[in-house]
Formats: sequence, C-alpha cells, structure tokens
Amino acid sequence: MVLQELVLEDFRNYAHLGLRSISGTMVFFGENAQGKTNLLESIYLLARGSSHRAGADAEMVRWDRPSFLVRGVFAAASRTVEIEVSYSEQKGKSVLVNGIPRRQSEGLAPQVRVVLFVPDDLQLVKGAGSLRRRFLDQEISQVDPTYAFDLSRYTKVLSQRNSLLRAGASPADPSVEVWTEQLVDHGGRLYQKRLRALKKIAPVARGVHSRFAPGEDLDVLYRPSVPLRGDEAISQVEEAFRRRLRERANLERQKAVTLVGPHRDDIVFSLNGMDARQYASQGQQRSIVVSVKVSEIEFLRQETGDLPVLLLDDILSELDASRRHRLLEAVSTDVQVFLTCTDHAPFRPVLPTKTEYYRVQGGEVEMVAGG
Ligand SMILES: Nc1ncnc2c1ncn2[C@@H]1O[C@H](COP(=O)(O)OP(=O)(O)OP(=O)(O)O)[C@@H](O)[C@H]1O
Ligand SMILES: [Mg+2]
Repeated sequence: MVLQELVLEDFRNYAHLGLRSISGTMVFFGENAQGKTNLLESIYLLARGSSHRAGADAEMVRWDRPSFLVRGVFAAASRTVEIEVSYSEQKGKSVLVNGIPRRQSEGLAPQVRVVLFVPDDLQLVKGAGSLRRRFLDQEISQVDPTYAFDLSRYTKVLSQRNSLLRAGASPADPSVEVWTEQLVDHGGRLYQKRLRALKKIAPVARGVHSRFAPGEDLDVLYRPSVPLRGDEAISQVEEAFRRRLRERANLERQKAVTLVGPHRDDIVFSLNGMDARQYASQGQQRSIVVSVKVSEIEFLRQETGDLPVLLLDDILSELDASRRHRLLEAVSTDVQVFLTCTDHAPFRPVLPTKTEYYRVQGGEVEMVAGG
C-alpha cells in the first residue's frame, strides 16, 4: 500500500499542502514546531479515522479557520482508495471513501493501514499496562472492524458500571447486573479476539527478534485477569468472566471499581523465559520494541495481504546506530516509510537511495534536491 497523494487544507499549521506523485520513502526534516508531526498525524487520521494525539477533532482545525480537510490517495496491488476526512464545527466529522460517505459508528472496515512508531512506544515493555493494551487493541482493530466496535461499547459499559459502584451500589444489585451482562458480552468477544491475535503476533515477533538478537528468545504472552487458556468457545469465555466477577464481588464493592476484565489485563514480553520488564536491560527492552513494531508490519501483511504504510515520528534519533539499522533493514523495501527528524544527515547512509527529502518550515513543505 502506497500513499500517492496527500492534500491538506487548514489542517493544524498547514493552510494548504499538496504532495502529488509520491511513492517511496519520504523524509520530512526541519526545526521543532514546524509541522512534521502534524503531517504524519494527517496520514494516521486517513487510515484510522481519528488522530493519535488530538483529544478532539476540533483541535486539528487551523486556528481561526472554520474547518479542515485531509485527502489521500492510496494505491494497493489491485485497487486505489481515495479517503477524505473533513471536520467543521457545525457539521462535525465526515469521512468519504472513494466519494461515498462512511459512518464511523459500527465496524467500519479499515481501508488502509498504517503502523506508527513514536518515541513514547519505547516505553512499551516497561511502561503502564494501558500502553500495551492499546498496542494490542490498535493492531486488532486494523484487521477486525467489529473489534473496535466492541471495544468502544465495552469502555462505555465499564464506565457506567464503575459509576454505579462508586455511588455505593453492590455488584449483586440488579441495576449493576444489567451492566455486568453487557460487560461480559462485549468483553467476552474482546478476550477471544485478543487471545487469538496474540497467538498469531507472538511467533511473528519471535521470528523478527531472533534475526535481530540471535540467542534471545522473545515471547509475547497475554495475562488475562480472568483465567483463560485461549482455546475456549465464546460461551466458556463468558462463563469464566462471569465467574471471576462473582469471585471478586466483595472486593469490587470495597474498592468501588470493576476489577476484572480486558481493561485490567496485561501483556508480558519475556526474553528466554524471564519477564523483560524486570530482567531485561534498557537496551534489550528497546530492541524488543523495535522487533514488536517490525512484527506489526508483518502481522498486517499476513492478515490483509498488503503492506501498511510506516510512520516513524522522530524515532531514528532515539535509537542507537545498530537498532536504527535493524529497524530499517527489517522493513522491506516495498514498505513506504514516512519519517521525520530534525537532521537527516546521520540517517542518510541507511536510507534507500531513492528517498525524497522535504524541508518543513512553518507549515510549508519544500522538496530538497538530494537532501
Ligand atoms: N490547530 C492548529 N492550528 C495552527 N497551528 C497548530 C495547530 N495545532 C498545532 N499547531 C502548531 O503546529 C506546530 C507544529 O507542530 P508539530 O507537532 O507538527 O511540530 P514538529 O515539526 O513535529 O516539531 P518537533 O520537532 O518539536 O516534534 C506547533 O507549533 C503548534 O503550535
Ligand atoms: Mg514532532
């Protein structure tokens, strides 16, 4: 999958941007606060329908303007997809795919896929569990549209249930049980899909990592707050979830919060059988993250038959030369990469010769011959 054309109108600090006839690796370089991340954000928005960093769509409208528009043309092996995302205060957000309006609500099939790698991702191994859950959620959402739907319903149900518990209700109260049933319904499907996805992701990550770090055996394991093996039928998953909730009912009443479910689970990265969070060195943890990110590309290719677009925001400068090398070498030359940096000189030797270099300055982008 290749982004061939990108047009921005009043998006963040861009009044107008038009990039046409693009294909290979593109480097966007420039000083801080010039619009490099904004540009990657716009591509992410086309693929996912929402920003990776904006809390609200309105944030992305250029200051003092009424609306923004982002349009991209993506080419896959056998098809071309034009996606347009626009937002205005009066009309809200609208998404057009090949000119046809899409409703964001339930299970909108993703048309194009991106893998985003930002410095925050380097915390994946040792940072908060929410980072690891989000990693898994995003990966599954890109291949399974109904997953995102269940996840958003689950999150709403969870907050309803929590607010009743906070107000002093007991998990056994009928008013809470209504939400418990919905929690189990959406959560059961999330469990099943997470466990299945991880069974596919783990070997891919292990394969990538063994190429990087021979002798280091990486495993990615799911640690559910409900005892599950991973091969249960949905009814068994639901029953196990219900049972665990019942077992924790007293504690939930004391703590006034939902203690069991996909929102409480974690992913464990292990190296040679040891939890990498506790035992791996900083450098090993970073290497794991690079392997996991590369495996995300491979996972999406396996699941969809197409390569995603890779967005690297300021990541090369965060990695030492050898990890940078590993990352770029592991990425097939068929993957289109958009990368940002303040100075590209150190990376030039490891970038493909056909790479195009663009200077970003004050919301304007200018191609620079030979960098
Ligand atoms: N809605 C908006 N309208 C206009 N400008 C905005 C808007 N949102 C953000 N900006 C501005 O965009 C500028 C560039 O942001 P961006 O995050 O893309 O910078 P960057 O080039 O990635 O910088 P860095 O190297 O520090 O990461 C910031 O100065 C910010 O003030
Ligand atoms: Mg930036």
